[in-house]
Amino acid sequence: MNFRQDFPIFKNNPNLVFLDSTASSQKPSYVIDWIKEFLENSYSNIHRGMYDIAIIAEDFYVASKKIVAKHLEADDYREVIYTFNTTYASNLLTSTLKKNKILKKWDKVLLSIAEHHANIVPWLMLKEEIWIEVEFVKVTKDYDLDFSDFEEKYDNKVKIISFTQVSNVTGQIFDLERVWKLKRDDTLFVVDASQSIPHFPVSVKKLNCDFLFFTGHKVLADSWIWVLWWKKELLEKYSPSFSGGWAIWEVTCASYTDWKIPDKFEPGTPNVTWAVSLLRAFEYIEKIWWFEKIDKVEKELIEYFLEKIKEIPKVKLIWSTNPKKRIWVFSLVFEWIHSNDFAEILAENQIAVRSWKHCAHPFHDFENEWNSLRVSLYLYNDKADIDKLIKVAKELKREI
Ligand SMILES: Cc1ncc(COP(=O)(O)O)c(C=O)c1O
Repeated sequence: MNFRQDFPIFKNNPNLVFLDSTASSQKPSYVIDWIKEFLENSYSNIHRGMYDIAIIAEDFYVASKKIVAKHLEADDYREVIYTFNTTYASNLLTSTLKKNKILKKWDKVLLSIAEHHANIVPWLMLKEEIWIEVEFVKVTKDYDLDFSDFEEKYDNKVKIISFTQVSNVTGQIFDLERVWKLKRDDTLFVVDASQSIPHFPVSVKKLNCDFLFFTGHKVLADSWIWVLWWKKELLEKYSPSFSGGWAIWEVTCASYTDWKIPDKFEPGTPNVTWAVSLLRAFEYIEKIWWFEKIDKVEKELIEYFLEKIKEIPKVKLIWSTNPKKRIWVFSLVFEWIHSNDFAEILAENQIAVRSWKHCAHPFHDFENEWNSLRVSLYLYNDKADIDKLIKVAKELKREI
C-alpha cells in the first residue's frame, strides 16, 4: 500500500527519494487541485464581504476549522485559532499568558529535553522578560519521558507543563495521558502535536490538555498554516496580546474592546487559501483511510529499515526499542562521517534527508551528540527508498 501516485512531485522528479517528511510533507494533487480551484473560483477576503464569493470563502474557512475540531475531538470549532507558524502559535500563547498575568516571577515551566526550539525559545523569552524559571525533564535511556525526574521537578512552583507528543528527533511517542493523570489542577498543560497529528488521531479530550498546537505543512497542507487549539473557557477569559482589524468590537481614539472568540485572537486578514489546503488535507486523509492503514504500513517499513541499517557499520541509532512507542523517524549518528557531509552526498544521489540538530539543540547536548542524520518516512515511501539510501551508505563506507 503506497500512495505515491497521488503526489505529483514524484511524477515531476522521478528519481527523488524523499526522506524528510518530518521537516515538511509533500502535497497530494487532491490538495493542490483544490487550492487552484479555490483561487480560480471563490477566492476573496472573508468576514466582511456581503457578496457571494466572500460568503463561499467564509464557509470554506469555517469548514476548515470544523474538520480540524472534528479530528481533535474538540467541542467547538471556535476553539481553533489559525496563525502563521508554530513560532507564532507558541509566541501567541506565551505572550497571552504574560499579558494576562497567568505567570509571575519564579513560576516554573516544565519542558522535556526533547522539545523542538519552537517549544523552548518562547518560554526562554518569558524567562528574560518576567523572570520565570524553565526546567527540563530528562528522557530515559529508551528515550521515553523520565517520570521519576518529572515527579521530582514537578513542585508547587510549576504552573505550566509543555511537552511534545512525539519527538522530531527520536520519533518517540510520550505518554502524555500519564502526565495529565499526575498533573495538579493549578497547572496548565500545553501539547506540541506537530509530529503526532500526521501519524495518528490526536484527541484533546483524551489528552486533557489546555492548549495544543500543530502545523499544517507536516500533514499534507500548504506551508504557513498553524493551528492553536485552546479550551473555550480560557479562550474567553484571556485578552489577546496582538490585536487590530476584525479582532475588536469597538475602537475609539482612546481605547478598544476585544471581540468574540475566536476572532479576537486572529487580528488582520487571515490566509483563507491555507485554511482551504488544511481542509482538503484532512479530507484526503479521510478519503484514503490513512489513520486506519498507517499502523500496518509504518510497522512494516520500520522493521525493514531497522534490519537494513544493520548492514552499515558503526552507526548509533537514537531510537527507542519499544515498537509501540515510536513513529518512523530515525536519527542516526555515524562514527565515520559528519551528518552534513553525508546529507550532501545523499543529495547528490537525489536522496533528501535532514542533517545537523533538527532544531533540538538541548536534546543533542543531553545526548552528547554533536549532530545527527535524520531519515523520516511518510505515506509515499516504500522499501525501495530505504534500499537506495542503504546502497549509497554502503558504497560510501567502502570508499572511506
Ligand atoms: C515537534 C515540532 N514542533 C514544532 C516544529 C516547528 O515547525 P516549523 O518549522 O514549521 O515552525 C517542528 C518542526 O519540525 C516540530 O517537529
